[in-house]
Amino acid sequence: MSLKDKIPSLLEALAGLPLSEMLAFIGQAFPGKVAFSTALGQEDQVITDAIFSEKLPVRIFSLDTGRLFQETYDLWARTEQKYNNKIEPYFPRTEDVEALVSKQGINGFYDAVENRKACCHTRKVLPLTRALQGVSVWVTGLRAGQSANRSNFSLLEWDEAFQVIKCNPIINWTFDEMLAYLKAHEVPYNTLHDQGYVSIGCAPCTRAILPGEEPRAGRWWWEQTQKECGLHANYFKK
Ligand code: ADX
Ligand code: SF4
Repeated sequence: MSLKDKIPSLLEALAGLPLSEMLAFIGQAFPGKVAFSTALGQEDQVITDAIFSEKLPVRIFSLDTGRLFQETYDLWARTEQKYNNKIEPYFPRTEDVEALVSKQGINGFYDAVENRKACCHTRKVLPLTRALQGVSVWVTGLRAGQSANRSNFSLLEWDEAFQVIKCNPIINWTFDEMLAYLKAHEVPYNTLHDQGYVSIGCAPCTRAILPGEEPRAGRWWWEQTQKECGLHANYFKK
């Protein structure tokens, strides 16, 4: 049976399970082949807490673009300390970044949407491709309430781009449910959230949002695009 064909029976098995049981089930169904990508966001911290606290058989990795906030690196370190466990780092390849910066300049992403997409491709999509080598199930912290576009996402999807089952275990959680979990479990969070930041990516491409703005308004705020970097591009083909 192909990986893709396993999705319906997997969906049935996962129906109604709480977060940690869901992740435990997937980890056992695909031993050594389940990986969670964390951007250290609030959603991600919920999933990291479940995996590390319960010692679930799921790898955790993060894509370090080289342009993250100091506050995000601090959170990365604090998270490893709290759970006494490691988040695997994936960096872009040196020669790829050198070629990118030589071509478009150190802050070239502000100059054109194509430049921005090329930077995200080099610093995020290519390292993600490496991180997902040999992986069957890619776990993410996507939440439907993050944007109109993301409201189409579901618990399990076939990711054509990376040829993996994509699992979004908190896709249907509300913002308040997520906050309640973080508080109840005393999960470390990014101090930028206390300064008006909601969705946090690379430092030069993220700003705080104003009251009433949608959660992802602070990402690539100078662009009129769909505010996605290519990791989750699959969905635009729907
Ligand atoms: S992004 O595509 O706009 O950057 P966002 O920051 O909302 O995504 O995060 C959504 C999910 O994508 C995260 O829960 C995480 O699974 C994955 N992700 C995004 N950025 C990274 C990163 N730098 N490292 C690892 N995973 C990431
Ligand atoms: Fe480059 Fe900005 Fe994309 Fe980060 S978010 S990879 S700095 S364009």
